[in-house]
Amino acid sequence: MRQASEHSHLVVGCGHVGTRLAEALGKRVTGAVRSAASARRLQALGIPALLMDLDRPVATDLSGFERIWYLAPPPKGGERDPRMGRFLEALERSGGRRRVVYLGTTGVYGDCGGRWVDETHPIAPRVERARRRADAENRLRAWRRRGGGELVLLRVAGIYGPGKLPLERLRAGKPMLAPEQAPWTNRIHLHDLVRVLVAAMERGGDGAVYNVSDGHPGNMADYFNAVADAAGLPRPPVIAPDRAEEALSAGLRAYLAESRRIDNRKMLRELGVTLRYPTLEAGLRGCFR
Ligand SMILES: NC(=O)c1ccc[n+]([C@@H]2O[C@H](COP(=O)([O-])OP(=O)(O)OC[C@H]3O[C@@H](n4cnc5c(N)ncnc54)[C@H](OP(=O)(O)O)[C@@H]3O)[C@@H](O)[C@H]2O)c1
Repeated sequence: MRQASEHSHLVVGCGHVGTRLAEALGKRVTGAVRSAASARRLQALGIPALLMDLDRPVATDLSGFERIWYLAPPPKGGERDPRMGRFLEALERSGGRRRVVYLGTTGVYGDCGGRWVDETHPIAPRVERARRRADAENRLRAWRRRGGGELVLLRVAGIYGPGKLPLERLRAGKPMLAPEQAPWTNRIHLHDLVRVLVAAMERGGDGAVYNVSDGHPGNMADYFNAVADAAGLPRPPVIAPDRAEEALSAGLRAYLAESRRIDNRKMLRELGVTLRYPTLEAGLRGCFR
């Protein structure tokens, strides 16, 4: 029988990032996933698993979990995150106060014309995917105002690292814009993200927002070229912007239509994290060593 005091940490959406986080946290953590296959995968790693499908009403008693990292993505469509809504209902039904760290995205800032963006920058989500993330943030803030507990919001840049590189895309020879036409993008190495997730729970201000990136924005085309070089794969063929509509997926086109440089100084200052991979070069070297 699970003792709440031994397993008072919960990672909701314990997939690629969550599993690394659970491993870093050690014994007191339970991983919540949607599918039985993922639950078996966690158990095989020695991580106790909880089955919880946030696309249905959640009946689980969450009263034993004091510290919660919420990493589950919103649904694929629409402008809202009803999964977050169901989770917060279950949390409130279970009673007690908790501390929640939310893994959101920098997409909520929308297009910033390549400017530097810190946490005081107003959010202006343009695409549905980003609006769903803004909705999740709003639901969490409302939960905190209702006295649910403490909240730390993370706005996370593109995650890369072992198992999180666009190798399939490169192998398939899919094209990319030229560096001169590609926007700024921001990254964080998976291992550094895990350290930030732990630090945010330990030291993040209640109600605070933190940008999470390595502080070295780069060009999207340069990113694909750098990964190709590090992996020993051909660089993607370059296409003209007027061919982007037919040659690039709608999802990638949406990313290419937004440009911003994410300021990570608050994260470094207040969370006290020293990044192991402050640049893409250092991070990619680590991936292929
Ligand atoms: N990729 C990026 O660059 C980036 C940037 C910023 C933020 N993020 C976000 O970071 C988070 C973690 O990423 P990741 O790579 O670890 O994702 P992942 O490997 O796809 O894991 C997602 C997890 O969420 C669970 N989940 C999905 N739908 C669910 C539902 N309806 N109910 C309950 N659980 C559900 C999955 O469970 P099953 O395995 O059982 O389906 C899985 O455990 C995601 O929210 C992602 O959107 C990603």
